[in-house]
Amino acid sequence: MSLEVIILAAGQGTRMRSEKPKVLHPLAGKPMLVHTIEQAQRLQPGQTHIVVGHQAHQVEAVVASLGVKCVLQAEQLGTGHAVAQAMPAVDSDAIVLVLYGDVPLVPAALMQKLTEQAGQGKLALLTVNLNDASGYGRIVRQGPDNSGPIQAIIEHKDATPEQLQIKEINTGILAVKASYLNAWLPRIESNNAQGEIYLTDVVAMAVDDGIAIGYLQPDFPQQTQGVNDRMQLAALERWHQQQQAHQLLSDGVQLADPSRFDLRGELKAGTDIYIDINVIIEGQVHLGNGVHVGPNCHIKDAHIGAGTQILANSVIDQAQISANCSIGPFARLRPGTILHENAKVGNFVETKKTTLGSGSKANHFTYLGDTEVGEHVNIGAGTITCNFDGVNKFKTHIADGAFIGSNSSIVAPVSIGAGATIAAGSTITKDVANDNLAIARGKQRNIAPWVKPVKL
Ligand code: UD1
Ligand code: CA
Repeated sequence: MSLEVIILAAGQGTRMRSEKPKVLHPLAGKPMLVHTIEQAQRLQPGQTHIVVGHQAHQVEAVVASLGVKCVLQAEQLGTGHAVAQAMPAVDSDAIVLVLYGDVPLVPAALMQKLTEQAGQGKLALLTVNLNDASGYGRIVRQGPDNSGPIQAIIEHKDATPEQLQIKEINTGILAVKASYLNAWLPRIESNNAQGEIYLTDVVAMAVDDGIAIGYLQPDFPQQTQGVNDRMQLAALERWHQQQQAHQLLSDGVQLADPSRFDLRGELKAGTDIYIDINVIIEGQVHLGNGVHVGPNCHIKDAHIGAGTQILANSVIDQAQISANCSIGPFARLRPGTILHENAKVGNFVETKKTTLGSGSKANHFTYLGDTEVGEHVNIGAGTITCNFDGVNKFKTHIADGAFIGSNSSIVAPVSIGAGATIAAGSTITKDVANDNLAIARGKQRNIAPWVKPVKL
């Protein structure tokens, strides 16, 4: 039996107080809705339908590349109405899994188990027990102590005082055969406290039809926690970050403080890595064996070779770093930076579209843009490659073993030969041959005797 996923994402999310649709607010750097879609896609559904409404265009633009279909719910008449909008496009032989764009952390494994129950012909619900069940739909079970089979879901606003005592709540997530939904959804009425078409009414209909009601519960309530405001989003972010940090610790990555580490993407880590406090890892990052990351570093979409030291307050974006390099403190490696083995980039050095050959060093106060640096080159403090004339960018080549004196401006396009020396303070505009010395600065004049000015 095939699976189709319906993700509700039409609501306004008023309490976020945002111009942005709620489901697009990021958790761990990724829109909440995208988390839900990615977990669902691990089940390899035939189709995924996103029910959009408020700010539909913004939501559609974000999910356009993810292989999902959007269906418009022009007016938000309730969760039952929302699911009904997607049903015409759903194969009537399929199992339907209903998810929510603002419930981002449901694990794929839990979704899978729910769909398995639906495959056995049950209406499978995801429920959770909460100390404070206020606001949620209550799971009403048979028997005086409410512990028997599930009979119905009663929304908070429709519940009797006794029903309000129930701690087991509806997460909203369910799985069931499409053919059942097709029979039930048109029969849902809106004669309730909110005048809405409640998806939850299908539970009582299933009971009437003699369909078994299955249920599952998450390992952690956060896995089914929805986000209605920024406090809830921040709390869920922290929980998720803590889970990721604990996973890294058990995988053998030493975090100085798991509560001061943020992973917004995917980290592939070797052995014996140490990560100091307040580090943010973003996008796809690979850290080789023995990498040390100092405090307050931001590393995004980068590959860091084994044994490399990244010192405090460094920012690395789209860079390829080989083994045993040293970066920072206070270095900024921008997109297109490539460091070969044993290269060193020190404090207040910025690189962009620049390769440093093995053993080369730019230790202090330097800008290298569009620059190819060979092996064992020393770039002195204050060196600038002038790669931009205001309109076009040009390349600088610095060959193996060259020595660039401090405070040099190297005006591209230009090539410095192997073993060449550039005298400190030079402005280089012409190519320099191998092993030559280039001096391009005002000559020093000493004036003597020199009579100092006196106060008038
Ligand atoms: C719903 C459930 C409730 C459950 C709770 C869990 C119903 C009737 N109630 O209540 O049992 O405890 O979720 O959070 O289902 N949406 C649409 N279109 C609509 C209405 C809603 O897309 O017409 C989306 C919303 O954007 C939201 C989700 O569905 O993401 C839930 O809707 P909401 O109105 O917040 O339902 P609750 O009242 O919280
Ligand atoms: Ca809600």
